[in-house]
Amino acid sequence: MKILNFGSLNIDKVYTVENIVKGGETIDSLSFAENVGGKGLNQSIAIAKAGGKVYHAGCIGKDGAILLDTLKENGVDISLIKLVDISSGQAIIQVDKNGQNCIILYHGANYAVTKEYIDEVLSHFSAGDILILQNEISHIDYIISRAKEKGMKIFLNPSPINEALQKYDIASLNGIFVNEHEGAYLSGKDNVEEILQELSTKYPDLEIILTFGSKGAYYHYKDTQFFVPAHKVKAVDTTAAGDTFTGYFVALQQQGKSAEECMQTATKAAAITVTRKGAAASIPQAAEVY
Ligand code: RIB
Repeated sequence: MKILNFGSLNIDKVYTVENIVKGGETIDSLSFAENVGGKGLNQSIAIAKAGGKVYHAGCIGKDGAILLDTLKENGVDISLIKLVDISSGQAIIQVDKNGQNCIILYHGANYAVTKEYIDEVLSHFSAGDILILQNEISHIDYIISRAKEKGMKIFLNPSPINEALQKYDIASLNGIFVNEHEGAYLSGKDNVEEILQELSTKYPDLEIILTFGSKGAYYHYKDTQFFVPAHKVKAVDTTAAGDTFTGYFVALQQQGKSAEECMQTATKAAAITVTRKGAAASIPQAAEVY
């Protein structure tokens, strides 16, 4: 059983600020760093650090050598990544004094993913293999339908929210990782209990994982529902906490761990991530988590 992550690769331009800038305001930053990130890349690295073997697919530009090097150094298979004639995706990130962030994305090469390339990548996978998707590349709807035809097990982290989400066949997924905002968008409900109720009624075969920031995370699948409280830590930078959670959960589930074990370990890994600066670099190794 192979794991494929078809996802974004970004160069993160990170500005530390006292407070996140408001409309019409000009502010000074306290520091600047250029990091390796992208929800896709971060999740692949989390899977690899959790002990999983993962193939990453997606597009980068000529400026993306550092993205490839970082994936390779962390043991991710990069043989399916495509080089295109557009600059790599970028994220402009502000991180405030409480570790909270806000992110502006530039799609760049992430939106150079074509149907032909998707067909080529998926030809290497078959029934029972796992596919992980986020919402930062083009043609997600096509990837879902082709992977479903093949009988792959599909997990979606529908982040960031945009109008393309309306086109995705959520019922054909096996699992979904949402935060409360994404859950609200997909369910039309406001509070977490209602979100879980609505999503599980609408999609009875879906494994639903709802992360709830510094409070913890909910798990819902058929008759099983439980909540895992977050570890109390001092947040320095919350970037990639959700990606760490997703990657750890998927890797552990593939290793045959129970839902409880997957949730507990993913929660602990995400707590370690928020105590460190950066995206991919802040994701802990398994030895730090277990
Ligand atoms: O989830 C964090 C990631 O979101 C960042 O690394 C940034 O690149 C954006 O994709």
